[in-house]
Amino acid sequence: MSHPNAGHANESYRFVQLSDLHLSSIDRPNPLQLCNKRILGYLSWLKRRRFTHQEWILDRAISALHDLAVDYHLVTGDLTHIGLKQEFTQCRRWLNKLGTGADTLVIPGNHDLYVDSTWQDSFAAWQDLMLDDVGLVSQLKQKTAAGKLDQMYPQVRVRQQVVFIALCSVFPAPWLRATGRINQQQLMRLKFVLNDPALADHCKVLLIHHPITMTHTRKRKSLLNHADVCALLKHSPVDLVVHGHGHTRTLEYLACEDGRNTPIVGMASSSSTSAHELQRAEFKLFDVRRGHHNWHISMQSYQFDSTAEQFKPAEVCVVSELV
Ligand SMILES: [Fe+2]
Repeated sequence: MSHPNAGHANESYRFVQLSDLHLSSIDRPNPLQLCNKRILGYLSWLKRRRFTHQEWILDRAISALHDLAVDYHLVTGDLTHIGLKQEFTQCRRWLNKLGTGADTLVIPGNHDLYVDSTWQDSFAAWQDLMLDDVGLVSQLKQKTAAGKLDQMYPQVRVRQQVVFIALCSVFPAPWLRATGRINQQQLMRLKFVLNDPALADHCKVLLIHHPITMTHTRKRKSLLNHADVCALLKHSPVDLVVHGHGHTRTLEYLACEDGRNTPIVGMASSSSTSAHELQRAEFKLFDVRRGHHNWHISMQSYQFDSTAEQFKPAEVCVVSELV
């Protein structure tokens, strides 16, 4: 359990999580761009996804955020449908409404790396929201998006008493699969970050697109080496895990070796038109402050009310003290 020493006792740090925005439209794609796995994603968008995700709902989230005095924004992947260059550009225009590299951290989802492409045709459009040191990416030898992502993570952001540790769980998965994985090099670097003495007095928040357990996930969409990731986090705990991918509100706990239980928070899509109770569009508001013996983390889901056409707050849930 963390025993934070520095800072003011009641100082609160506030951040939001949005996820699975799927905000792009794919009007008139170049047929050559669809001569691969993307054809499936395009057909899915034509038939279903263009109706089940709406950018105007995300704009209502921006309106709601204006009143909440948020310190930081997390976007846990799947902003696009099939990762086309024009989708990255379209998403960037919306991200500009949300924040800047100083207050926003974006991680990739499997839809953003549907198939591999060049960095320039994909994540370059968001790189200042993904990287602390934008110059670093040009020094990486790999030319492809998948190659560079493999080298870049974890990304670490220290903001007051909170450290955000971002993972990349995506790779160009085979046809009909939405699986993820954390490769061995990234796991090694993560182990180093989690045990860094300089971060010991911070509230550790881990971001990953895929859920790290199988509780709410089918094998086809799972994190392939979830057992390795959980084993590391049981031994070297964080204070909170946030993820996307499932488009469903979930909350579970990871029992760690030191006796603590780490909350694992899953999100509904922030742009969803669903009326299903667990899948209505949402964003999550988190407040972190120091407790006597651990970090006090409260969470509030803002859910889309289709009648009022705005996001409304649900009850506050203290995730760090439910166990
Ligand atoms: Fe996903």
